[in-house]
Amino acid sequence: MVATLETKQTEVVKTLNREQANALVAYLNYKKYHWSTFGPLFRDLHLLFEEHGNEIFAMIDELAERSLMLDGKPVADPAQYLPTATVEPSEGDLSVRAMVEEAIAPTI
Ligand SMILES: [Fe+2]
Repeated sequence: MVATLETKQTEVVKTLNREQANALVAYLNYKKYHWSTFGPLFRDLHLLFEEHGNEIFAMIDELAERSLMLDGKPVADPAQYLPTATVEPSEGDLSVRAMVEEAIAPTI
């Protein structure tokens, strides 16, 4: 079966929307780690989590606008972020090791 251009566009938009939602959830996870880290590595991890969060945050608008360029509809409703994302939102109090492990865990 040969995919039509419309089918390909729909698949690309779905992927862009998933990655947009993933970027926001990952950003929020990094902010949690940034605010929650502690111990002898506090300074380095605090700054690292902030840097990673800022890099991801910068991607969110780019992903949404690429979807718009393909006549898609980006994730605009905040209630749709979690159902669309495949990145798990961080929950609860975590050890520093657990935060680092969550941060580097594969998302697919
Ligand atoms: Fe900060």
